[in-house]
Amino acid sequence: MSIEIVLRGLGRHVPEKVLSNSDLETIVETSDEWITTRTGIKTRHVVSEGEYTSDLAVGAAEMALKNAGMDAEELTHIVVATFTPDAMVPSCACIVEEKLGIKGRAVYDIAAACSGFLYGLENARAILALHPEARVLVIGAETCTRRTNFDDRTTCVLFGDGAGAAIVTRDGDGPKIRDVKLSSDGSLSKLLTVKGGGSSSSYEKVGDPIREDYFIQMEGREIFKHAVRSMTTVCNQILADNDMTRDQLNVLIPHQANWRIIDAVGRKFDVPPEKVFSNVERYGNTSAASIPIALSEAHETGFIKDGDVVLLTSFGGGFTWASALLQF
Ligand code: ACO
Repeated sequence: MSIEIVLRGLGRHVPEKVLSNSDLETIVETSDEWITTRTGIKTRHVVSEGEYTSDLAVGAAEMALKNAGMDAEELTHIVVATFTPDAMVPSCACIVEEKLGIKGRAVYDIAAACSGFLYGLENARAILALHPEARVLVIGAETCTRRTNFDDRTTCVLFGDGAGAAIVTRDGDGPKIRDVKLSSDGSLSKLLTVKGGGSSSSYEKVGDPIREDYFIQMEGREIFKHAVRSMTTVCNQILADNDMTRDQLNVLIPHQANWRIIDAVGRKFDVPPEKVFSNVERYGNTSAASIPIALSEAHETGFIKDGDVVLLTSFGGGFTWASALLQF
């Protein structure tokens, strides 16, 4: 694509409440040592009673608007990537629109699990190809802990809540999106599911108890292998398609699911560890929010510098995976 697409403002928001590994030791049979060595996670932010995905999304959107020097009024589209919306209907994007105090925009949710934010960026590029004047708010927002079974130690230690946002336009200052690559393989869908409440696993009548399938269920080891392979492949693809070598990359931001996955992607893709950004230690896996939270933080803390070429890559249930190449 030859048109210039700009990330005009970045933002993030996480709930105040923090759940540490030692807190989890009081909930399931686990240990800080097991969680740290297997995942690199030390703490995760979790929503409190009455705090919803849309609240986190709005917090991230407000920060992105402020950083872009824009008012919500200027937005034309809102795309929210989430697998944990406030409700099946209305969409999270509609609630975000209302909470931002605007109406009449094109707003909708997209479902690509942890890859959702990069799917959202590609969506914004498509909108901007048709409507050059558009100002698209793309948000990745999740309350993963609302779909986490806190009786299941194999999953409950991994996830956290949060949101990240970007305003995507064709004008203004900010990093340019050079390219995005999306991919998927539905034949692997059974390895990671949240079925309960969907049409394949609906509740028949009021009062039906929720079942285990209401929560995240996964085959951790299998996911691990596919995650490393897919993210490495899609990173190589985007470099090849843009006639670039990995030496030209300054920063790699993989989906923050697990430190061992992040480390393995860095090694397999052959990027030195000092170029690989990670904050999984403090947030855990925030699914679609992981990439925009990391991007916003890496930019704000100076890990990303002016002129840097940044590669984002993600992987999630579906399976879906993706990469995006940014020029700061
Ligand atoms: N505390 C203590 N022991 C545990 C825990 C825990 N929290 N969880 C599992 N164990 C035990 C298991 O019961 C097992 O015991 P056993 O040998 O007696 O049966 C042992 O630890 C090893 O379990 P494994 O599942 O083989 O451990 P593994 O080294 O594979 O690590 C993990 C598990 C961390 C889940 C890893 O497989 C992983 O990270 N996979 C990727 C998961 C992921 O990222 N999913 C989401 C990606 S997509 C998205 O982001 C939505």
